[in-house]
Amino acid sequence: MPVNYLASGFKHPTNFGLEMASIQDKGTWSGRFAEPVAELVKRYTASVDFDHKLALFDIQGSHAHAQMLAECSIIAMQDLADIQRGLAQIEQEVISGEFAWSLDLEDVHLNIEKRLTTLVGDAGKRLHTGRSRNDQVATDIRLYLRSAVDDLSKLIKSLQTSILDLAEQHTRTIMPGFTHLQVAQPISFAHHLMAYYEMLKRDAERLIDCRKRVNRLPLGAAALAGTSYPIKRERVAELLGFEAVCENSLDAVSDRDFAIEFTACAALIMTHLSRFSEELILWMSPMVGFIDIADRFCTGSSIMPQKKNPDVPELVRGKTGRVNGHLVALLTLMKGQPLAYNKDNQEDKEPLFDTVDTLTQTLRIYADMIAGITVKPEAMRRAALQGYATATDLADYLVKKGLPFRDAHEAVALAVRFAEQRGCDLSDISLVELQNFSALIEDDIYQVLSLEGSLASRNHIGGTAPNQVQAAIARARTRLATS
Ligand code: ARG
Repeated sequence: MPVNYLASGFKHPTNFGLEMASIQDKGTWSGRFAEPVAELVKRYTASVDFDHKLALFDIQGSHAHAQMLAECSIIAMQDLADIQRGLAQIEQEVISGEFAWSLDLEDVHLNIEKRLTTLVGDAGKRLHTGRSRNDQVATDIRLYLRSAVDDLSKLIKSLQTSILDLAEQHTRTIMPGFTHLQVAQPISFAHHLMAYYEMLKRDAERLIDCRKRVNRLPLGAAALAGTSYPIKRERVAELLGFEAVCENSLDAVSDRDFAIEFTACAALIMTHLSRFSEELILWMSPMVGFIDIADRFCTGSSIMPQKKNPDVPELVRGKTGRVNGHLVALLTLMKGQPLAYNKDNQEDKEPLFDTVDTLTQTLRIYADMIAGITVKPEAMRRAALQGYATATDLADYLVKKGLPFRDAHEAVALAVRFAEQRGCDLSDISLVELQNFSALIEDDIYQVLSLEGSLASRNHIGGTAPNQVQAAIARARTRLATS
């Protein structure tokens, strides 16, 4: 199995020395060039200050490429041994932060190759046989993203577990369900929470599906047309744990669909968490008071001593805009590009990296924040009793007694108007008075008008009845344990 560097807690070093030698001793790209690249251009075109993040994946890819080259007798076994030794040392230098990154060497690939050659001589220069930075960078990004997807899938699971743990305690905690932010019908707090579990369930499925298209090997495509060496791409795929190779060399070096797809998945996850955040903010407002968020997720005000602000959910809502922006950036990056590789593609990394980082931090903090919520059932109940939340139950009661639904709807509308004028709930109206709206009403109506009765009656899969929500939670637990 390939090492999961993100999961191992690896921190990317940030020491960029500008002091190292340029690629060629004369300071030019190659003998083809009459003068060195201008300093400003060098800074403009370099990517090392962000793509160093790919270093360990680049090394992983080089190990597999070199191994295949040796197995196919394209390089000598001794060269392979030297390359392996050099790469192992570079890996240590990168992990410890000692590796001296050079802007003169443009990107992560050239930095590592130059260091390898310094360490092991000619064998280092042979590593790039049959390879181009075009297929190399596409491979590195896929290795990086596959690892990120696996980490994120675990984080989604732990957030789902936090939601289930909270929901479990509240299958009988009644709150108003809203449409148009107006009180609609009573539901349980658990039922409301489980809606977010479902969104995250789809998000997890989407990531698994996206992973299939991330997990394809570009190496072997070389610059764009393939290579004249007798390479074995399937062997490299096997060594790196890729499911298959990219089947067209031009597509292999130019495709970034997988990055767009991933960012779309990420944008949707953030969008779900942004909606959740909006509710948490609302619920925590003293005007609503349904919940409290633990102090460690809130901040105070520099001027108003009484304030406790829900900064974390607000920032999640804000950062969603940033991830959605990355999606648009990546789509726009690709839309005008002719085949095959173009330097434009270097611009794929920052949006992608920032998407992974933002989503990782958000999911991590969210799971803890949900676990730290204090629920205020009395406030929820009070709100559910305020908005004639059981009016539909009264209409359904009349329908079950034979009244056509539209007539029942009208009868209840008149009853609600009556209650409103009197300033009371439907359940406070006496039986005799209720019978003015329909002679079908009998004294079993009061059970129907109660919040508990309303919940219990929605007793089918997907409904808010406590036993149904309990069953949904149990199904979710089984699913999480087996997925
Ligand atoms: N730094 C480059 C990138 O991120 C690597 C590929 C460079 N290839 C090239 N033909 N200039 O895309």
